[in-house]
Parts: sequence; C-alpha cells; structure tokens
Amino acid sequence: MIPYGRQTISEEDIDAVVAVLKSDFLTQGAIVPAFEQAIADYCDVPHAVACSNGTTALHLACVALDVGSEDLVWISAISFVASANCARYCGAEVDFIDVEPETGNLSVNALQDKLIQAYQLGRMPKALVVVHLAGQPCDMAEIADLCRPYGIAIIEDACHALGAHYKTKPVGYCEYSDLTVFSFHPVKPITTAEGGLVTTRDDKLAARLRLYRSHGITREPTLLEQKSPGGWYYEQQVLGFNYRLTDLQAALGLSQLQRLDSFITARNHLAKRYDEKLSALPLTPLLQKKERKNGYHLYVIRVAEEKRDRLFAELRHASIGVNVHYIPIPAQPYYRALGFDPANYPGAQAYYSSVITLPLFTELSEAQQDEVVHHLERLV
Ligand SMILES: Cc1ncc(COP(=O)(O)O)c(C=O)c1O
Repeated sequence: MIPYGRQTISEEDIDAVVAVLKSDFLTQGAIVPAFEQAIADYCDVPHAVACSNGTTALHLACVALDVGSEDLVWISAISFVASANCARYCGAEVDFIDVEPETGNLSVNALQDKLIQAYQLGRMPKALVVVHLAGQPCDMAEIADLCRPYGIAIIEDACHALGAHYKTKPVGYCEYSDLTVFSFHPVKPITTAEGGLVTTRDDKLAARLRLYRSHGITREPTLLEQKSPGGWYYEQQVLGFNYRLTDLQAALGLSQLQRLDSFITARNHLAKRYDEKLSALPLTPLLQKKERKNGYHLYVIRVAEEKRDRLFAELRHASIGVNVHYIPIPAQPYYRALGFDPANYPGAQAYYSSVITLPLFTELSEAQQDEVVHHLERLV
C-alpha cells in the first residue's frame, strides 16, 4: 500500500534523539526551549510555546483566551474534530462556519452571513478557529477584517500548514490572528512523533500558554504571589495541565526543522506533477488561491459525487492508500447529539462528498506517483 502520508526520518534525526537519550535530561532540559526559539525564528514571531500535541495546543489556545462555559466559539466545518473539541473542553458552546467546496477552507461569505445573524441575535462568538486545510492558508486578511471590529479572537489551526506562506509571511506569524497552532504528528510537515506548538505575538497570551501547559505552576520570581522562602518554592496559581513536550521529541523536531523548506519544496514539486499528469482526467485538484504558498500537507482531488465512493474503494483495492479529509464535524454523532445538522453546511457537504486524498509525502518517489496516476487513468 502506498500510504497517503508518512514521515521522513534521517540519520541526523536519529542521532539527535540518541544524543538526548545519552544526556542528563529526557524531558525538561535545554532542547524544548531551543526548538521553541527555532520555530519562533522560522515564523518570525516573538513567542512559540511547545506542547504535547496539536489537540493540546488547540486546548491551550482556547484556555489562553479564557474561553469558558458562557462563551461561543465558531469553527470551520471541515477539519479534524480536535479543531472543535478544544472549545468543548472549555465548556464553550460551539457553532460551525461553512466552507468553500473548491478549497475546503472557511468561506468568507458564510462568515459574513453568520456575523450578521449573530449580531442581530446579540450572541457574538468569543473566538473563531480557522483551518488551513491541506496546507493552503485561508483568506486571513478578509477574515480578520470581519472579526476584529467585534473583538472576536482568531485561532489559526495550522496543523497542516507549517512552512506555508500567506502573502509575504510564514504561517505562524500571527499578523491576522491571536494564536496559531501546529501539530507535529508523523504525517505533518515535520514531526516530533506526538507534538504541538502555539505561536503568538501577545506577551500575556504566551505567559498563559506556558502557565497552563505545566499544571498552572510557576517558579518565576517576578510572578510569585508570595515571597519565596527558598529555592524549592513554586506556586500553582491556576488549574493547569501536563501538556509538555519532551526534550526527546523536541530534538527530533529541531533536527527536522532544518529540512522543512526542502520538505515543502519536494511536496510542491510532487503536487505540480500531479496537477500536470491528472489535467486531462475528469477530476479537479483543490483550487489554489493567489498570494499564498501551499505547504501541501495533503493533495486532494474532487470527483463527481456519484463516483467518489466507488473510485475510493477501487483505489484502495489497488493498494493506493487514499483517504478522505474530512467528514464535516457537524455530521459526527457527538455533534449531531448537540443539535447540529450537516445539511445546514452545504459547502462542507459538497466538499466532503467529492474529495479523495491521494498519496503525497516528501519521499514519495516519481515511480510511486506514476502508479497512483496510472490507476486513476484506468479507473476514472
Ligand atoms: C486540522 C487539525 N487540527 C488538529 C489536529 C490535532 O493534532 P494532533 O494529532 O497533533 O493532536 C490535527 C491532526 O490530525 C489536524 O489535522
């Protein structure tokens, strides 16, 4: 089976992890801060806070914004469920914004309509989670223009999009958002096995991310509420979590980060090659918008809805590890039980029922890619 995605691990990566194993600290040594600084430098952003995975990064982002049970959070309707669950962990009410079927990204028109309704009802969201699906950045300037006048915080779920660019800036720069969240799961642009990270330009949000990441505990002398009686002293000031990344994981991430740009170049090369080789077939790749560089976490094609399920099954039968990203979140039983009806998100439905994710990863060979193309030519 040619998988839809997979990690790329080099000897340098292995050496970096082994060096930590031989060192004094496996968890809270110097490597996590070094990894955070390297990502902050890459994204040209003041703060990067690493944590245990993309889901905990999303949860920390919501906690940092003080999302609570009185609040409403809006989420793009097409994503992995974690994009919405993070707000539910805080007890918040959630609602979904429809997507453009051509990209799977949040529809600015749908957001505008929803804002008008929300304003009339007097129930505005505290935060919006936008998802850079498959590695293509959303229309961030337009989204920020709509949200900022109402003080709606914006979280970029960039779990697919480390290494992507929007206008002239790397995703994670936070020009149009309060916080940006990354995942380092093995299929993602770089990996730490499990791992996540949040970037922000806001000092207060960064301090809250750090506090809540580690039990709500601080040892920082300037932050202590009481005078320290000695070097052992720490204070738990809020109810936080153990959402820390380890030095072992950070060492892998730091090593991988050196090759991020070459990974993105390889993914873009393969995506262009798919575009060319599939151009004569009755299928369309996701629309690529101007003024952004796609990280190409996923290569997604759209086919006629009545043909999708069969084509998917036949490709799997031919050992092509295709996938579907994603089932609309409001269609999940947990969210249906909260009262959501997927029929209210026609863009998400049209997207979902037509898409197939083809294999795309850094080390996908042209021969493997040709095999995928061959089966598509035979089956479409
Ligand atoms: C868009 C999106 N958000 C959040 C997550 C959660 O990340 P993690 O698996 O690191 O918890 C994922 C992971 O698949 C994702 O694709």
